[in-house]
Amino acid sequence: MDENKRFRICIVGGGSRYTPGILKMLVAEQERFPISTIVLYDNEYERQARVAEYGRILMREYYPACEVVDTCDPEEAFTGIDFAFMQIRAGRMKMREQDEKIALKHGCIGQETCGAGGFAYGMRSVPAVCDIIKDIRKYSPEAWVLNYSNPAAIVAEATKRVFPGDFRIINICDMPVGIMTMYARALGLPANRLEARYFGLNHYGWFTAVLDKETGEDYLPRLKKLFSTPPEELERVGHEVDASWAETFRFMSKIVRECGEHFMPNTYLQYYLYPKHMLAQENPEYTRANEVMDGHEKRTFEMIDEVIAAGALKGTKHEPTDRDFLDGHATYIVDLAYAISHNTHDIFLCMTENHGIISNFSEGAMVEVPVMVGSRGVEPLNVGEIPTFQKGLLENQFAYEKLTVDACLEGSYEKAWNALTLNRCVNDTETAKALLDDYIEANKGYWPELH
Ligand code: G6P
Ligand code: MN
Repeated sequence: MDENKRFRICIVGGGSRYTPGILKMLVAEQERFPISTIVLYDNEYERQARVAEYGRILMREYYPACEVVDTCDPEEAFTGIDFAFMQIRAGRMKMREQDEKIALKHGCIGQETCGAGGFAYGMRSVPAVCDIIKDIRKYSPEAWVLNYSNPAAIVAEATKRVFPGDFRIINICDMPVGIMTMYARALGLPANRLEARYFGLNHYGWFTAVLDKETGEDYLPRLKKLFSTPPEELERVGHEVDASWAETFRFMSKIVRECGEHFMPNTYLQYYLYPKHMLAQENPEYTRANEVMDGHEKRTFEMIDEVIAAGALKGTKHEPTDRDFLDGHATYIVDLAYAISHNTHDIFLCMTENHGIISNFSEGAMVEVPVMVGSRGVEPLNVGEIPTFQKGLLENQFAYEKLTVDACLEGSYEKAWNALTLNRCVNDTETAKALLDDYIEANKGYWPELH
């Protein structure tokens, strides 16, 4: 690789509340990952324009070599890019709120990736993500698409089918990274000292080992002890912790104690293993979407407007501290891009096709496992056989995810209904139909038509 190379990247979903954090992280990473241009691409001009204006002020003060462009035009956005960082939310928070509230009306969990909410969002996200990747491929056939749009498991199943063999599309989630960061803190180690062994589907998996990269020691037994009581340190790096997330990390200790003797759980297992408890926590009038809209999203855009009004960050209350720059929870995206561009073969947890990786699991499923990352994309490590309990749960979930994508790509009502019935957080044929009919109504213009 040319050492003087400066990358042109596109943030797809540029108007997101996460973009300012990503921009700050890219400022902090400018030595390791030099950028000439950041293109922000979104389908809503106004909101993104504010983020872009903030971005230009930030770069003027902290990264003058980096230009920020904002556009709603795919050709301008995707021509000549090296990387697309994809973080779209089809239907935005308003539709997330619908997903959650419709599910709760039917006595089901509406979480954005698990349960019925994940299904409704998946049916919006799959066409939106695939259309954008088609555009990216039209203008930059060899760009790397680092996709972390949700619901990632369903989106990954779709991109595998719609873009077969395209190894430059990588589906990744930050949750394992977030959990590993928490482990590192609990162990008093820097986060980059740890390397995971893990298996599952996205938001549905288990750590089988947490290794010290230098000594090879497996910290899992220690972590099981440490996290079988609620962790004191609930804060996730760079991510403000709202009440619902704090509760999630607290609840993890129960899963650690009760499920999977030799493994550590992904926090999302709470929805599948404790659906009654999780449902009882929900307020049908005020869901996670409301918490985000009234909280992080609102604060982020207020901050953006104040920065724009002042024309500066330096010397204002929004002047970032070193911690603000370094704590960007998005660092893993640059870690991934760096591993690709420098062919490092570092290990990440990504979604990839199961061809014998998990030997007793469905061939072709998009499993989340450790992979080596380099200039040819991802190369998975072997997992081997998984226990019957986990296999049963995961096969059920994979059948649900597969049917969801079938329903979406074929426009099949029956498969959509079957999918929802299979979902552990729904699990009843009549409830599935009632939910589906309400979701179809609410998602006009977003979902493909079902026949
Ligand atoms: C974690 C998950 C993401 C999810 C995010 C935000 O980081 O890995 O998939 O989108 O949480 O969830 P929130 O409820 O804060 O919008
Ligand atoms: Mn995720």
